[in-house]
Amino acid sequence: MCGIVGYIGKKNSLPIIIEGLRRLEYRGYDSAGVSIINDKAKVLNYKKVGRVGEMNDNIDKDIFQGSIGIGHTRWATHGVPNDVNAHPHFDMDDNVVIVHNGIIENYKQIKTKLLAEGFQFSSDTDTEVLANLINYYFRQTNDFEKSVRLALNEVEGTYGLACLCAKEPDKVIVARNGSPLLLGVGIEETIVSSDASAVINHTKNVVYLEDGDMAILTKNGFKMKTIHDVKIYREAHKIDFLLEDIEKSGYDHFMLKEICEQPDTIQNTYRGRINFDSGIAKLGGLDSVFDKMLNAKRFIITACGTAWHAGLVGEYMIEQFCRIPVEVEYASEFRYRRPIIDEDDVVILISQSGETADTLAALREAKKFGATTIGIVNVIGSTIAREVDAGTYVHAGPEIGVASTKAFTSQVMSLALITMMIAAEKNTISKESLIEIATELRNIPGKIKKMIDAKEDYKKVADAFKNANNVLYLGRGFNFPVALEGALKLKEISYIHAEGYPAAEMKHGPIALIDENMPVVFIAPQDRTYDKIISNIEEVKARKGRIIALASDDDDNINSYADYVLRVPKTLALFAPILNVIPLQFLSYYVAASRGCDVDQPRNLAKSVTVE
Ligand code: F6R
Repeated sequence: MCGIVGYIGKKNSLPIIIEGLRRLEYRGYDSAGVSIINDKAKVLNYKKVGRVGEMNDNIDKDIFQGSIGIGHTRWATHGVPNDVNAHPHFDMDDNVVIVHNGIIENYKQIKTKLLAEGFQFSSDTDTEVLANLINYYFRQTNDFEKSVRLALNEVEGTYGLACLCAKEPDKVIVARNGSPLLLGVGIEETIVSSDASAVINHTKNVVYLEDGDMAILTKNGFKMKTIHDVKIYREAHKIDFLLEDIEKSGYDHFMLKEICEQPDTIQNTYRGRINFDSGIAKLGGLDSVFDKMLNAKRFIITACGTAWHAGLVGEYMIEQFCRIPVEVEYASEFRYRRPIIDEDDVVILISQSGETADTLAALREAKKFGATTIGIVNVIGSTIAREVDAGTYVHAGPEIGVASTKAFTSQVMSLALITMMIAAEKNTISKESLIEIATELRNIPGKIKKMIDAKEDYKKVADAFKNANNVLYLGRGFNFPVALEGALKLKEISYIHAEGYPAAEMKHGPIALIDENMPVVFIAPQDRTYDKIISNIEEVKARKGRIIALASDDDDNINSYADYVLRVPKTLALFAPILNVIPLQFLSYYVAASRGCDVDQPRNLAKSVTVE
């Protein structure tokens, strides 16, 4: 949610900030702005509704010159997207300039206090209140660092922030509480950013701020302290991806690129983690908690959105193969409903970004009650990855498209590996089945590749229902979560209303919606649910619904039932969600692209939801 970039060094900061903001635009894109300190120590500001590209086209690059600056790309929380509410924000004396990601929860109380002191405000934002609070202390102390510290000790809520001070124009101060922030440490320069994609073009060395950290950046480097003025040292890490991983590389959209990367990303998830002869899987990151997992009274899987759908697949897998009870919870509900958790529970947190506010809060809640916590996370070094007791990275690489695709299949693959690991140790699976699963696992990348090669077929089906107003997705067993995921993908990028249901539930309500205008996507693999799905298809046909069936390569029978067939290679039930989701990803992609939607940056969404 919102992207922050700041620069201090010897170079002209504006191009570096704009390039960084472009890479962070997936975090929010309703308005953009920068503040630059020029060589006469004057602060220059620009902020407007619109995208970073528009700012780049409109800003006067001859004037906005200077080697210290901060910038922001916004996803609105407080206040509608307009020029006034865009960041940076300034205090009423134009002394403190701030870009902020997060929410200051007690901003109303602080605003009331400042209004009583004669402060004035021009926007609706919590960030402007913070700028004024810092300046309130600056008026008393004449010390920028101290003023930021005093203000941050007074605010409640979350922030990743970077600020400048007109009266101390030689530094940038940054701080973090709940919203990610890192420092890219270059030669004679430091770049601050919400994530590593904005700094990788300049340096591979990064220092992550922890909650409660501040850093004071000057041209000579930086020092770090807590907001309680205790000096701290944070280790530097190396960024583990390449610049080309975060570029479109010839694809029209990041989403299409990421769908097509899945043969590789899925391999990266299991590479080195399975013995193909015995079928035994091993995830090194879980070693320290493996006994706890084996003896767990139950697993609770908690996540949001697409990651929650992966969790639901995990429930089917772990219960079926490991015979351990599993509950799957929306993280946003879990954290607030006083769940019953104890030391015998294992709580699995699934998150692509590793920064989702609700998932992070669920993790902290679970820890409070002594549960063992495990992360299934994509972004290395992210907050959830750092705070869990143990974890496994899915290694899907940077996911830039707002709609999650490759992270989902890698999350499901990680859950399959966890399932195999536990089932083997608990003897709830035969040796033959394990080997059969491992053998099939090796075929999965090739089978995904086959579907990618057939993407034009999926595109034709997408063309046939791109003008629909509603779409129903139905699946059973392991494929019910895939129906949910297919529906989510369609609605978030094409704005077509879509619902996912367990196929048999259709009769209990949604069937009332069926008429000749309603496309229904059936996930119909030839497994033990096949005959039941065919009956459900007939029920829809009888009411003139349009049938799109996802069916195995060699299923000729389906042709007599379905108006359109999306072909999927046969596989074992455990891997069916990974294969079946691919045509659904393509379907939503092509529908959205042909409707002219902004596929990578759909309206109102942001990639990582770091606010509640
Ligand atoms: C949907 C999507 C979201 C995320 C959700 C959780 O395409 O991307 O539903 O899955 O916001 O995000 P992470 O996985 O980063 O915790």
